[in-house]
Amino acid sequence: MRIALLTGGGDCPGLNAVIYAAVRKGINQYGDEFIGFLNGWRGVLDNTWIPLTLETVDGIQLKGGTILHSSRTNLKKIPGGIEKVQEVLKADKIDALIALGGDDTQSVTEFLAEHGVPSVGVPKTIDNDLNGTDTTFGYDTAVAIATEAVDRIRTTADSHNRVIVVEVMGRDAGWIAYGAGVAGGADATLVPEKEIDIDRVCALLKYNYDRGKHYGIVVVSEGCKLPDVGLVLGSEDVDSFGHVRLSGIAERLAGLIEKKTGFETRFVTLGHTQRGGVPTAYDRILSQRYGLHAIDMVHEKKFGRIAVLKGMDVTDITIKEAIATNRRLDQRFFDVIADLEAKV
Ligand code: F6P
Repeated sequence: MRIALLTGGGDCPGLNAVIYAAVRKGINQYGDEFIGFLNGWRGVLDNTWIPLTLETVDGIQLKGGTILHSSRTNLKKIPGGIEKVQEVLKADKIDALIALGGDDTQSVTEFLAEHGVPSVGVPKTIDNDLNGTDTTFGYDTAVAIATEAVDRIRTTADSHNRVIVVEVMGRDAGWIAYGAGVAGGADATLVPEKEIDIDRVCALLKYNYDRGKHYGIVVVSEGCKLPDVGLVLGSEDVDSFGHVRLSGIAERLAGLIEKKTGFETRFVTLGHTQRGGVPTAYDRILSQRYGLHAIDMVHEKKFGRIAVLKGMDVTDITIKEAIATNRRLDQRFFDVIADLEAKV
């Protein structure tokens, strides 16, 4: 078969490892040939692609980013988009598509599969908010990066007897904040799924100071809402899937904490560092397993479906199920955060 891959949406470490594994197994076990469309769905519309061979993918599984580049192109909003895709795939003699992406990218994969384009999905996002899979690749690396940052912030906060608020990504789900807050030993971990209680945050920090720990770490997810303010946006524009740009809650929260407690407070916004660099070992393994399964799905004609992790097994579900709702933190995880925070 002649198979095309593409990487859509926010990039993350692990994308290249998926490509590596799918291409290697496809060529070695099925005799397939591969191309990679560039810049996500945009590359299919523009018919811009590169050949993917054993030589060109060799070693990419260790690298961050995506050799195919990415974009947030919403095919469904482009008049004649589906027809153009069908035309390009026919012209390039493509038998099947493998789309690596989060809920937005996969909503396009599903749309194409429903219109007869043989396509399968692989669940990518640092946000870990795709339904139906235990973990998306990219998440473990983002938590590792954020945790390492919290560890570093801790020593400077301690040295200067300061509170430092650390803003992490994750959009509307608090998975990264949960991971970095628990792993990094934050004094307060704030997630979008729960209202922010400023007075409680200040009480948790005062608890430290009253016991001689004259510094504090607050981890806050970018998607949290401030009382009386709501979401804090980095700009007024929205992307092609209607998402606002979240950024700035750490700065606002730091100001409120300093005003209410009198503690010298600073903030750090980790931003895209959480999507950079090489994948962790866990993500390299998970990504390659997703890529191996995706190529099997193609040959088993499991179109309109997405590879998922269930426990230790990689299997697949319909893309419809995976994108039906966003997977958010639930009481199990709120309890972990609460049980580890001070009792105030
Ligand atoms: O979905 C991944 C993500 O990193 C979110 O956590 C974040 O809000 C968004 O992408 C940032 O998007 P962009 O890279 O387009 O600014």
